[in-house]
Amino acid sequence: MPSVLSCSCFSFSFFFFYLVVILSSLSVSLAGDPYVFYDWTVSYITSSPLGLKQKVIGINGQFPGPILNVTTNWNVVVNVKNNLDEPLLLTWNGIQHRKNSWQDGVSGTNCPIPAGWNWTYQFQVKDQIGSFFYFPSLNFQRAVGGYGGITINNRDVIPLPFLLPDGDVTLLISDWYTKSHKECSIYPL
Ligand SMILES: *[C@@H]1O[C@H](CO)[C@@H](O)[C@H](O)[C@H]1NC(C)=O
Ligand SMILES: *[C@@H]1O[C@H](CO)[C@@H](O)[C@H](O)[C@H]1NC(C)=O
Repeated sequence: MPSVLSCSCFSFSFFFFYLVVILSSLSVSLAGDPYVFYDWTVSYITSSPLGLKQKVIGINGQFPGPILNVTTNWNVVVNVKNNLDEPLLLTWNGIQHRKNSWQDGVSGTNCPIPAGWNWTYQFQVKDQIGSFFYFPSLNFQRAVGGYGGITINNRDVIPLPFLLPDGDVTLLISDWYTKSHKECSIYPL
């Protein structure tokens, strides 16, 4: 009986030793995750999604906004300048934001970016791959744009279980209105 006990103690301490080794190597690799920086200016632009010129929300002059093309575990830093005439929040739909909800750009966890100000979002796209999208979460702004795709690619060390596609096309589907978001909103802005 005593020999059995000492044996299990030994294997436990060995297990613990390996746990420490694994954890310390993990923290080293986290610290080395790449950073990617973006500067985005959100403003009204003129565009004709339905063939009729109207005021839409563009990012860096584009509608839809630029695709955030990143890779799992990258740290994403987006400096957003709000050139609208009203407050703005961008939310990163589907990004997990573990212990980081104040970067999620929804009212209640984030203060809106006042008109004319900028704010820098910083988050890590941790352990996820796939297609997601970002959009403005306040005041029905999403009805007139301000959104775009997020592509999170796999890291090379974790290959996909299927062949690489020939191409990657982001398709954004939404209702569209010729009225402005301020006219569409049921809440007074
Ligand atoms: C997105 O990033 C991946 C990996 O860095 C790259 O292979 C791909 O060409 C990029 N796609 C676009 C549209 O830039
Ligand atoms: C606003 O943008 C400036 C210039 O890019 C930058 O230095 C500053 O850190 C930004 N402020 C915030 C709160 O993100």
